[in-house]
Amino acid sequence: MHNSTQQIHQVVTVGLDERSYPIIIGSHVLAQLPQHFPALPKQLLIISNPTVAELYLPAVKQALAGHELVVHLIGDGEQYKSLQHYGEVMDTLMAWGLNRDCAIIALGGGVVGDLAGFVAATYQRGVAFYQIPTTLLAQVDSSVGGKTAVNHPDGKNMIGAFYQPLGVLIDTQCLSTLSDRDYACGLAEIIKYGIIYDAEFFAWLERHANDLMARDTTALSYAIARSCDIKAAIVGADETEQGVRALLNLGHTFGHAIEAHDYEHWRHGEAVAVGMVMATQYMLQQQQFNAADAARIVALIGRCGLPTQAPIMPEHDWRSYMLRDKKVKGGQLRLVLPTAIGAAELRMVKDWSGVYQAIVATTHD
Ligand code: NAD
Ligand code: GLY
Repeated sequence: MHNSTQQIHQVVTVGLDERSYPIIIGSHVLAQLPQHFPALPKQLLIISNPTVAELYLPAVKQALAGHELVVHLIGDGEQYKSLQHYGEVMDTLMAWGLNRDCAIIALGGGVVGDLAGFVAATYQRGVAFYQIPTTLLAQVDSSVGGKTAVNHPDGKNMIGAFYQPLGVLIDTQCLSTLSDRDYACGLAEIIKYGIIYDAEFFAWLERHANDLMARDTTALSYAIARSCDIKAAIVGADETEQGVRALLNLGHTFGHAIEAHDYEHWRHGEAVAVGMVMATQYMLQQQQFNAADAARIVALIGRCGLPTQAPIMPEHDWRSYMLRDKKVKGGQLRLVLPTAIGAAELRMVKDWSGVYQAIVATTHD
């Protein structure tokens, strides 16, 4: 804790030796951006979108008075996380003649953060990068850990790089303007940490689900900090997903199939929520998961305003979408599967009929 302006904040460190970086978490911390990141260079490119820029760009600009600022806005939506829009940001960097000693700042949700990170990773072979995540999902997941990407028309996040930021500034005050739906998407990722890593945190979430739904700032700050702690520990142990980091993909193989099937109606966090139910259902069918604990998972997801049932989709589509997952090896599906609340494993799954049975059990009639 610190500080000169009497604002209380927490710091979580992502431990990656000389590339370690802080995640600053607090309310109204946007105004303290330069104090938290004193190494910010003179020339900065802020990438955002019109929705977020209208709400938070003035405060960021004010905090950065004295810097040379260029702002590039992409449109609002997953479709802007594309090579075309990545190219347009590069055009801006070139047009303004930004040098290698500039920094890129992502101000927005996961879409802005993923694209901005890929820009930072590749402009002049890599420039400094800072994240100011403004959605709950970005604050607890996408801004931390260095996965950057844009989508290919045939697959999500297919073009990208691991590239760590130099710092992450989480202003919990930004969440006051988030829609209920986007807020719930962040809760899905928070629940994920409880399922894969921390039974005690899961139980805490059950006790505080009503507080979280009411956006109680004390509960929210704890949930964000604990989520960042867990993500930092996992990323610190396995930065490039050779092992344990894959567990962060609980529900994602199923979820990506739902997103690919119907991008327009499903948000990432909603699809992951249903995917976590499917993964649990699969283990239940295999008699490798406790029925009462499976019911707790479904109940908590439901209490957080998230869907627990998938849309109807032909079996062939499920299979082909799931086989595009980045965890597929030698043509074999590998799924992150919970073994208990607080523990999960990455497993090769050869039994498609069992997987499909779990899908059907989790699908609307
Ligand atoms: P998003 O970036 O599209 O943001 C959701 C909506 O909230 C948008 O309309 C945005 O304009 C709006 N918004 C953002 N901040 C706001 C605020 N404070 N107040 C009001 N509105 C606000 O979506 P997301 O859920 O943040 O991120 C999803 C993306 O993140 C996906 O592309 C997904 O692939 C990616 N992701 C990446 C990682 C990673 O590790 N890099 C992890 C998880 C998800
Ligand atoms: N969101 C998954 C990861 O960062 O690995």
